Amino acid sequence: MKKLIAGNWKMNMGGADAKDFAVSLKQAVIDPACEVLVCVPFTAIPDVASVLNGSKISVGAQNVSWADSGAFTGEISADMLHYAGATHAIVGHSERRAMFGETDETVKKRTLKALEKGITPIVCIGETLSQRKGGLTEKVLKSQLDGAFDGFALQQMQRLVIAYEPVWAIGTGETATAQQAGDTVAFIRDCLNKMFGYSPRILYGGSMNASNAAELLNAGIDGGLIGGASLKIADFKAIIGAA
Ligand code: G3P
Repeated sequence: MKKLIAGNWKMNMGGADAKDFAVSLKQAVIDPACEVLVCVPFTAIPDVASVLNGSKISVGAQNVSWADSGAFTGEISADMLHYAGATHAIVGHSERRAMFGETDETVKKRTLKALEKGITPIVCIGETLSQRKGGLTEKVLKSQLDGAFDGFALQQMQRLVIAYEPVWAIGTGETATAQQAGDTVAFIRDCLNKMFGYSPRILYGGSMNASNAAELLNAGIDGGLIGGASLKIADFKAIIGAA
């Protein structure tokens, strides 16, 4: 499968600036060799989807509810994402695990609902610095895989994407080395092959940028989930070009 380069705008460009950025991005990224996706604030999805309609760039969200509707204040349903124009959704980002109570169980519920409704989930896993320093990385990642995908069928695994995001590399500029990232992604792939006889694409996220993307993407990694660098057209284009 093609590599996937996905931008995660986080809580940025949620207004009129999103449309202007999308116009520039569409002009900059004409015929990429990889899949390209931007996961944008919910308020920006309709405008960005409208601008990028017919381009080689897909539009996604940064979360999706496990419920269809009801008393879930602040949540956004898969049907609402479809209506707005999103085809993908990030699930279980470490920022949501750390600040908003996301657990392996809620990650599983959100992922199942996304798959049921035809939204492609990008399921995030990753260890903290203390867990890595404590030699717990593989134990933590295996636990997150088991918690998120317990009981899943092969057909479900074939319709999702995984993002390995070492928490200590997110937003810090402390990118994992290509060796670290490649070895850890290889471990995750091995776990998935043992669990399902198959591994979805595994992206890397954590301070990937124009200068380190090529090395990371040549380390057995299937793409990137890009935060800060996806907010700059030239940088995001350079990462896409490296895929
Ligand atoms: O979801 C991607 C994000 O967590 C990575 O952020 O700024 O380190 O590329 P950044």
